[in-house]
Amino acid sequence: MFTCLRIVHLVHTVHYVHWLDYQSRLRFSTTITNLDYDCGMLHLRRIKEVPPNYGEFVDEVAAGLAGLYGPPAAEEYRCEAVRLLQTALGNPLVDAVAFRDGSRVAALLLAVLRDSIGQISFLHVLRRYLGRSLEARLIEEAVATFQAGGVEAIVSECVTFSSLNVDDTYQRLGFEKIERLLMSAPLNEPSLQSPSELESVVYTQRAWPALADVIAEAYREHPDRRLHFEVRNPEAALQLVRNCAAGIYGAAEPEFVRAVHRDGRPVAAILGCRAAPGVGFVLQLAVRPEFRRQGIGSLLLRESAEVFRRRGYDRIALGVTRNNPARRLYESLGFDPKKTVDAYVWWRP
Ligand SMILES: CC(C)(COP(=O)(O)OP(=O)(O)OC[C@H]1O[C@@H](n2cnc3c(N)ncnc32)[C@H](O)[C@@H]1OP(=O)(O)O)[C@@H](O)C(=O)NCCC(=O)NCCS
Repeated sequence: MFTCLRIVHLVHTVHYVHWLDYQSRLRFSTTITNLDYDCGMLHLRRIKEVPPNYGEFVDEVAAGLAGLYGPPAAEEYRCEAVRLLQTALGNPLVDAVAFRDGSRVAALLLAVLRDSIGQISFLHVLRRYLGRSLEARLIEEAVATFQAGGVEAIVSECVTFSSLNVDDTYQRLGFEKIERLLMSAPLNEPSLQSPSELESVVYTQRAWPALADVIAEAYREHPDRRLHFEVRNPEAALQLVRNCAAGIYGAAEPEFVRAVHRDGRPVAAILGCRAAPGVGFVLQLAVRPEFRRQGIGSLLLRESAEVFRRRGYDRIALGVTRNNPARRLYESLGFDPKKTVDAYVWWRP
């Protein structure tokens, strides 16, 4: 699930993650290689300040967001982007690697350490610097840093808005590629309607551990386990539920965390947030294996759609691995692919 725009959400997470244990293990070095290019000198550097030309990045990303979630998403991003980057750069365990062209920045990668897992969350090369493999060198640097720091795994799932060539680089570095899709549907879609009396129930804090168990159970044998480190065990899943409810991935409302019961116990869970103005996002949908193919997953999606509609939203979105059978479920409910978002994962052998 979970291709929520990590580009935007990375910056929310940094306040909440417990970094200190790892701070001593992984320090981002401050001096790295210089690379010379025919068309001028571009220097690979770590940055700690918002670059003076960051507005160019914001413009290019905002244009991409407008295509994905509509002009209000772009507008919101424009208002927030500098503050969000400042917050990220202020965190000692956010690694910001950039190519500098004088005082300006030509390309930027943001990576973050969450528990023992490194995440590459943002990668953008300004349009006029494309075609010089800057992205490859940024990825190499971030990966080498994480690996030297002893991380257990590295996950890259960036929603990119320029034509970057990253496949070869990740392949050379031993990453597995996982093809993902960002899908969405209009909330007036007939197959997403539900009765006004909802069967699913809102789960508040006391009940979150039970919900986390459902999510972890749903992913125990799942082919996407390597990608979804957030659900690899009940403790990680509980942190995911907490983060979701805390608004870390996008604005949260209590009724975005829901479960379906059978025989008095939760057998299915859905976690949602607001991804952009008017857009509800499904961060996770999980049904216990023995309760699948009984319509519970589609019920939860329809009921989440109803909850988003009541908030005045007009679109619902989610991320899915291209070959996950769940995709058929989403298509049957009117979801269309909006963007390919390939993920890359590396686990320490
Ligand atoms: C995906 C998931 C939530 C679906 O829940 P569900 O309760 O089985 O869904 P429904 O019964 O409402 O719908 C099932 C439909 O989804 C599709 N589908 C889901 N899983 C399938 C599978 N393993 N094989 C074939 N079709 C499948 C089919 O279209 C199916 O319709 P059908 O039963 O009429 O053939 C559930 O399989 C699950 O928890 N999977 C593990 C976690 C996961 O992958 N979550 C989604 C991440 S994007």
